[in-house]
Amino acid sequence: MKCVAIKDVKEFEIKEIDEPIAKDGHVLVSVKKSGICGSDIHYWVNGEPKGLVMGHEFCGTVIDPGDRSDLKVGDRVTALPISPCGKCVACESGNPQYCAETWSKAVGLSLDNPGALAPKLSVRSDMVMKIPEAMSDEEGAMVEPTAVGLHAVRLADIKVGDKVLVIGGGIIGLVSAMFAKLEGASLVALSETNSARGEKSVSLHVADEWYDAKDSNMISNLMAKTNGGFDVVIECVGNAPAVNSSFTLVKQGGKVVLVGVATDAIPLYSVMAVTKELTVQGAIAYTKDEFRKCIDLIATKQIDVSKFVDDIVSLEDVQKSYERLTSGVDSAVKILVDPNK
Ligand SMILES: NC(=O)c1ccc[n+]([C@@H]2O[C@H](COP(=O)([O-])OP(=O)(O)OC[C@H]3O[C@@H](n4cnc5c(N)ncnc54)[C@H](O)[C@@H]3O)[C@@H](O)[C@H]2O)c1
Ligand SMILES: [Zn+2]
Ligand SMILES: [Zn+2]
Repeated sequence: MKCVAIKDVKEFEIKEIDEPIAKDGHVLVSVKKSGICGSDIHYWVNGEPKGLVMGHEFCGTVIDPGDRSDLKVGDRVTALPISPCGKCVACESGNPQYCAETWSKAVGLSLDNPGALAPKLSVRSDMVMKIPEAMSDEEGAMVEPTAVGLHAVRLADIKVGDKVLVIGGGIIGLVSAMFAKLEGASLVALSETNSARGEKSVSLHVADEWYDAKDSNMISNLMAKTNGGFDVVIECVGNAPAVNSSFTLVKQGGKVVLVGVATDAIPLYSVMAVTKELTVQGAIAYTKDEFRKCIDLIATKQIDVSKFVDDIVSLEDVQKSYERLTSGVDSAVKILVDPNK
């Protein structure tokens, strides 16, 4: 079958790979939609690992349900792409996201488990979740990034009336802002270097206001506006300026949630955390329960994540779509791929 794989730095190739077969403990899925994620962009930018077939945000229909007696051919499903061992302390405590095997064998993030930039994929049966009829394929592919935002905001422990800053208006920033509002924040501000994305965070009604991170007055403006800083800052970028501004813009005794993934070491004025007595909280992925809750929230229309989808493209257009998402000026945030288009 045809798939999209990493060839080199910022370069994909379309190539033929063997179709996945129905193997023990797996469900074989026909992919309907697959999302392009900010984390995928890190792999594409680095051009490694070569041959990786990405696509860890997806929905599709069951071709072979394997050992899942509750599933039948044609059922619509999504799945957690993670691959926890199920036996370690992390797994036993209900936190598969900490398990050492979770990422090394994740679907679409490891060479062993090709992802959804192909018409078919095989996924661990215990990670598969059925999606209701009330949910579109687009929404099904949006469950995974939505769950990342839900997990981050739950860890942020926002109190009603809190002022919250979200740094970065990619999909992770947008869903985090959406959940921050649902938690009762009195102000959700968002900072962006890409003005088209910044404006979009407000026009889509997830942020109350947006601020230009390229503006040298942004920090002083925001400190004045909040009278000394935000109660909570959720960092959804993962580069040095963004992480440092999260420490600067949070109030004394406030909380910073780091969601952005930095691929290099970041020089940080840690003394800010000391003198302001900050709580610094990392956030990685989601639990199964949070993933399921996102399916429920979307299916019952309590949240609308379809509004974040900018485009649906073919496998041939994946390369162009990555270029668009990294242009720094385009308003597109979430592009889905339809491998059958
Ligand atoms: N912790 C997790 O579980 C998890 C899960 C998914 C993604 N991520 C990471 O979260 C980050 C965001 O993901 P995404 O899919 O939204 O990515 P994205 O690349 O679409 O969005 C990042 C945004 O940050 C903006 N930006 C860059 N520098 C900035 C700055 N100094 N200040 C403000 N904005 C700035 C960019 O313009 C871009 O819009 C990535 O690092 C990704 O790897 C983490
Ligand atoms: Zn993702
Ligand atoms: Zn484990």
